[in-house]
Amino acid sequence: MRVKAVYPGSFDPVTFGHIDLIRRGAAMFSEVVVGVADNPRKAHLFTMEERVAFLRQATAGMANVSVMGFTSLLVEFARSVDARVIIKGLRAVSDFEYEMQMSLINRRLAAGVETVFMMPSEEYLFVSSSVVKEVASLLGDVSSMAPDFIGSALRERLLSAGGE
Ligand code: PNS
Repeated sequence: MRVKAVYPGSFDPVTFGHIDLIRRGAAMFSEVVVGVADNPRKAHLFTMEERVAFLRQATAGMANVSVMGFTSLLVEFARSVDARVIIKGLRAVSDFEYEMQMSLINRRLAAGVETVFMMPSEEYLFVSSSVVKEVASLLGDVSSMAPDFIGSALRERLLSAGGE
């Protein structure tokens, strides 16, 4: 059975933890569409276009992975690309309560779309976009947490923000 999945997130910016989950999802589902959410209520460091471009670069070698931005409800985005599964990453118990609530709301909104939780490699359990931004802002080395092009983009963005 060919099952298409979406993997949604803010990806501000993409980390090795995200890439690990995309790889695991791509091995499990026939196609994975990475959905980059643009939430105007969240202050993002990178624009949606930049975040989409970063994800395209990070997944360039993955044949059954594509990347799209979305501004709608997640379940509408899933429907629009004909996906029946939402992939979510769970790193710690602290993620669970919020993610369970979201998955039940999404089920109420669209009963035919199933949320599947996956765990990243233990190497990346502590890695998050916020941690990567914090370390980079304090001039720390993020090369074990995100691709080098993300490290460079962060340095550039944080440098220009500091110079404002
Ligand atoms: O990486 P994040 O910030 O944890 O991702 C959160 C995301 C994008 C998955 C979530 O905010 C989302 O699903 N946004 C789309 C709007 C929506 O459908 N919200 C859920 C119903 S209230």
